[in-house]
Amino acid sequence: MSEEIIIIGWKAPSNIALVKYWGKRGNQLPENGSLSITLENSTTTTFLSFQKKSEKGDTISLKYYFHKEQVLPFEKKTELLLNKLCSEMPFLVDYELVFHSENNFPHSTGIASSASSMSALALCLVSMEEIVNANQLENDEFFRRASLIARLGSGSASRSVYGGLVSWGSSDSIANSSDEYATPFLLHEGSRLNKVMDIILIVSSKEKSVSSTKGHALMSEHPYREARKMQANNNLIKITEAIRIDDYQSIAEIAENEALSLHALLMTSGSDGLLLKPNTLYILEEIKRFRETSGLDLFFTIDAGPNVHLIYYEDQREQVLEFVRQNLSQYCEDGRWIDDQFGSGPQKITSVMKN
Ligand code: DP6
Repeated sequence: MSEEIIIIGWKAPSNIALVKYWGKRGNQLPENGSLSITLENSTTTTFLSFQKKSEKGDTISLKYYFHKEQVLPFEKKTELLLNKLCSEMPFLVDYELVFHSENNFPHSTGIASSASSMSALALCLVSMEEIVNANQLENDEFFRRASLIARLGSGSASRSVYGGLVSWGSSDSIANSSDEYATPFLLHEGSRLNKVMDIILIVSSKEKSVSSTKGHALMSEHPYREARKMQANNNLIKITEAIRIDDYQSIAEIAENEALSLHALLMTSGSDGLLLKPNTLYILEEIKRFRETSGLDLFFTIDAGPNVHLIYYEDQREQVLEFVRQNLSQYCEDGRWIDDQFGSGPQKITSVMKN
């Protein structure tokens, strides 16, 4: 084996979709366009160290450590993914690969970690590719490639390689949008969305009865499949227009419609798709009541699980925190919630060489 070991590290955030990716086709391509907010505080940090094998390889060799412990199911999953990526990144078989990964949001809180973990992994792989091919990419090219690689690991991860608002999936309403990779959705300077915040209310941290990957698969035979594609694409057109003209009431209505539609699709997919819990519904009722009495622009969204994201704007923070403590924390598992906000995107941690 060659003496030189190179270590690369990236910290990548999770994201929350306002228009949901739900259903896929072909090689991890979305059935509809989606739009998400990249978060700031819920992140995965991954280090990849690689060392050239003494002879040209023909199989992937890797070890995977999560919070310093070797985790065989993660190792297996990563090995399967890297085998799939070999046509894109043939150099992978020529190196001994070691991944060390950590999530900074509490483990088992029911927050989807595939977006942050797969984007951190993809960013490390593209940095490695630059080094082994001795070919540094332009910034735009680098992140587009990382988004494509992340997508092959997990669809929603394609959006986490960028900060701010991010779209994935081709749409007439978004210039340069693509099914292959995500693109940043630029906000004008005065948009309140630049200061949007997210409180994640943890209703349950138990493993879900239907994973997102299974939920996507169930869409291929779903009786509402075509209607869903039409609905999501219309919602994407409507929300992008609402964002451009700062129509915060419409943004709220569309985001809530998307969250409830996702769960309606899950519940009617012929599997055990009831992922909402009684406390999820109590929280939604409280949010609606508070919105009516306070007149604030806050709204909810939910991913494929029971936890609720309460989205609001920075100028409402004090009132919202008071509301969460007084009215919502009682519905959270052990009173737990996560304070998050509009994020600036991934950060490169390091790139070192050891002999
Ligand atoms: C409901 O990206 O987790 O969060 O591509 O199979 O890994 P895979 O699925 P995943 O699905 C996310 C679904 C969602 C909506 C969204 O984030 O757009």
